Parts: sequence; C-alpha cells; structure tokens
Amino acid sequence: MNIISRRNFLQTAALTGAGLALGPSLFGKDEVVDKNWKSPHANLVSPDKKVRLAVIGCGGQGGVDANIMAGGVQFAAFADVDYDRASAWFLREPNVPRYRDYRKMLDEQKDNIDAVLIATPDHTHFPAAVMAMNLGKHVYVEKPATHTIGEARYLKALAKKTGLVTQMGNHGHAYDGCRELKEWIEAGVIGDVTEVHIWTNRPVWPQGVPNPDPEKKFEVPSTLDWNLWLGVSKYYNYNPDYVPFDWRGMWDWGTGAIGDMACHMFDPIFTAIDLRGDVKVSSESEGATEFSCPKWAKVKYEIGASKTRPKPVTFNWYEGKCRPHLKDLPDGLFKEEKDIPHTGMLYVGTKGAIIDTDDYGTRMRLLPAEKWEVFRKNRPPKKYARVPDRNARMEFIRACQGGPTPGSNFVDHSMDLTEWGLLGVLSLRLGNKTIDWDYKKGVCRGLPEANKFIHKEYRVF
Ligand SMILES: NC(=O)c1ccc[n+]([C@@H]2O[C@H](COP(=O)([O-])OP(=O)(O)OC[C@H]3O[C@@H](n4cnc5c(N)ncnc54)[C@H](O)[C@@H]3O)[C@@H](O)[C@H]2O)c1
Repeated sequence: MNIISRRNFLQTAALTGAGLALGPSLFGKDEVVDKNWKSPHANLVSPDKKVRLAVIGCGGQGGVDANIMAGGVQFAAFADVDYDRASAWFLREPNVPRYRDYRKMLDEQKDNIDAVLIATPDHTHFPAAVMAMNLGKHVYVEKPATHTIGEARYLKALAKKTGLVTQMGNHGHAYDGCRELKEWIEAGVIGDVTEVHIWTNRPVWPQGVPNPDPEKKFEVPSTLDWNLWLGVSKYYNYNPDYVPFDWRGMWDWGTGAIGDMACHMFDPIFTAIDLRGDVKVSSESEGATEFSCPKWAKVKYEIGASKTRPKPVTFNWYEGKCRPHLKDLPDGLFKEEKDIPHTGMLYVGTKGAIIDTDDYGTRMRLLPAEKWEVFRKNRPPKKYARVPDRNARMEFIRACQGGPTPGSNFVDHSMDLTEWGLLGVLSLRLGNKTIDWDYKKGVCRGLPEANKFIHKEYRVF
C-alpha cells in the first residue's frame, strides 16, 4: 500500500478524500488513510454538531444536492426567487426561514448559518459566493462555479485568503475515475499524453436563438421575482423560453454546452496531467448571436511542453453535431466510423490511448480492445486516496467539520479547471477568434476586446 505523507497529503488535497469524520470502516482494505489529518480550514463546525446549511436556489440541481446533504445537515434558511420551484423544500421543511433575495437571507440569518449551497443559474454563483464567503461561510457552488475567468481568479484568491471550505459541484471528481486516470498515466500506461478529444451531444437545450425582441412582453409568473432572477445580469424582459433550465444556452446567464460540460468532462484529464500555462485557443462554430451560444462548436487548445508536461498537448472539444471522425484520430483505435461512441473522452499518448464513455469519468478502458483485455487483469497499484463514499456533497460537509479538504476545492483545483473551460467559451464569444492566453497576467495577448468578457459588468439590482 502506498501511504501518502502528511505533507504530500496537504499538497495533493485536490486528489485526496480520506474522510476521518466517517471512520475507517468505509475504506476498502487497500485504501490510503491519513490518520494524522488536521484541517487547515477556518470556521470549522464541531463534528458532534450538524452543519447549518443555507440553500440558494432550491429547485432543479439545488434540490438534488440538498437532498444528498440532508442527512448530515440542519437546514438553516432557503432563498429562491421562485416560490413555486422551491415549494417541495418549503413543504418538506416548513419551519426553515424562506427568502426570495439571498442577500436579505445572508444578512438576517448570518449568525445561524455555517455553510451555503449555491445552485442558481451560472451568472448568480459569483455574487452569492462572494457575499457568503465574506461573511465567513463555507460554500458548495454548482458548476461552472463562475461565469467569467475574472470571477474564477477572484474566488480562488478569496478562498485562499479566508481559509474557508470550498467545493465546486462537479461531483464526478469524488468518484475514482480522476484518480485512476492519473495513476494509469503516471504509471506510463499510454506514455506521454499528446492529444485529447472530448465530445458531447449537448446542447440538448436551445442555442443559436435570435436576439430578444424588446417589444415582446410576457406576463411574469406570480411566483417569480424576475428582477432578482436577473440579478447582476443586463436587464431583459421576462420570457418563458429562458427559465427554468434553458438559460444555459444564453451568454448573459450561462456558458453554453462547453461551459456546462467542461467541469465534468475535462475534469479527469485536467486532474491527471498539468494543463496550466500559456495556451493558444481557437474555435469554429455556427449560429451564435450576441445573446445566444452557438448551435454547434469545435474548440482547439494547444499547449506547449513544460517542466511538468513532457510533450505539447492538443486538446479538442466537439459539441452539438460535431464529433471526431476516423480521419481525425490516430490509426488503429477504432476500426470503423460507427465504432466511435456518441459521447466520449479520448486520451492519446506516445504509447497508447484511453477512452472514457461516461461524462463523469467512470467508464475508462484502453484502446484498442485487445490491449484492454490484458490490462484490466493487471492494473497499476492505487496511489491516490479515494473519497470513502464517492460523495462530493458529503465530502464538503465532512470538511466543514474538520474532515479532509474537498478535492474540487477552489484553491487547488476547481477554479483552474473552470478557467480552462471558460477559455473555450471566450474564443466562441469573441466570434471564433484565436486566443493567445497569458496565464500569468490573465489576459489575451493582442486582443483587448476580450477584456470585457474576462471581467464583465454587473447590474445593480
Ligand atoms: N452537477 C451537475 O451535474 C449539475 C446538473 C444540473 C445543473 N447543474 C448546475 O446547477 C445550477 C442550476 O441549474 P438548474 O438546471 O437547476 O437550473 P434551474 O433554472 O432549473 O433551477 C435554478 C433554481 O435556482 C432558482 N434561482 C434562480 N435564480 C436565483 C437567485 N438569484 N436566487 C435564488 N434562487 C434562484 C430558481 O428559481 C430555481 O429554483 C447551474 O449552475 C447548473 O450548471 C449541475
């Protein structure tokens, strides 16, 4: 068994999940546990007390997350701009204070809250997280945690400064896949990674829709506060085509298919190899408007070799009707076009290739099939600790009580991952301009028009 030292354990917090709070019985025999773990985080809740959790955005995914956390928390307050969407939680927890405006909730209930779950549309994650963190609250923020790269860099710095517990909602990071992929690649199973192809059938929501007609007005449902839903975004008239859910294909509120899925599908390879640094990002797409993300897109990232990256890597994203074809891929991986799965993450190295057909990184195998049959019976040893119950939501709650730092925390992992996805969004939003990204400065070299998307304007509401 490979025991990770305490120092290494802290350094590799993005990968570790040995949860002392749940006790060793949850661990498999060969799993790594750090018995000396001492949390570096601020404002910890005593393990014999329940974490007092406030929820911002109780319908949709927020309801799913809250349900998974329910056993380990005491709900302290709910905020939702639409009391109809939140009604299931209001019925389930009739004594929990409820609000439409998260600012009022945080202001009035701050002494009763330890942690905040934020699961609103993407554009509201940042203002809500900043307010909660400035009040000293731990935050679990759905993915993508931010709407712009500037916001991702700000939240990373704020998490570092405050020492609070943070976790992004790319829950697949708590599964074993990210760790296994890192172990396989570090064991040299496919050599040095040179090429990545990731493709999805999304968007499965409207993209490529025309700019809104300002003359067209719909009645706002009586349960919804539209001004609060818009929050910091530019003002638009209400339209039932935007809420719920479909806002993700519209630039002011979402980040399109790539922004939606990057935090899941880019996560395993972003965890396994170092993809931080200067990078060139180019794109092709069709149907984007000032208001809406494109109907389909391809994005290419080209990153050079470095001390931690033995070979340059070309990283390709395909969405909508696009996907890699036989002609785009190295010979011998697939026999026929029809063998290429409809969604996938393909990692090509100097000595072989791995394919994963699960968006959350749990269905990896070697290509071609004959290699996999031999390899599956003789896999590299486990090196990185697993999250005991593979549960990202409870990993966060345990961390609020002194358990290990969550893997997708803002400081070590999730803000850098979010930035990598948002670089693709940026190239698309700039009308398929090629970006020469200066990682240190956080700017696009020679492209000042990119700045308004890296750091956006916020409406006062
Ligand atoms: N981890 C995952 O697998 C996963 C899956 C789906 C969605 N998500 C993420 O979850 C978030 C929410 O997505 P969704 O599909 O549930 O959206 P949705 O539109 O269906 O629901 C959002 C909920 O938040 C409420 N809301 C909106 N603005 C609010 C505000 N300012 N304050 C308080 N409440 C507000 C809405 O009324 C609704 O209840 C998004 O960031 C999305 O990317 C993650």
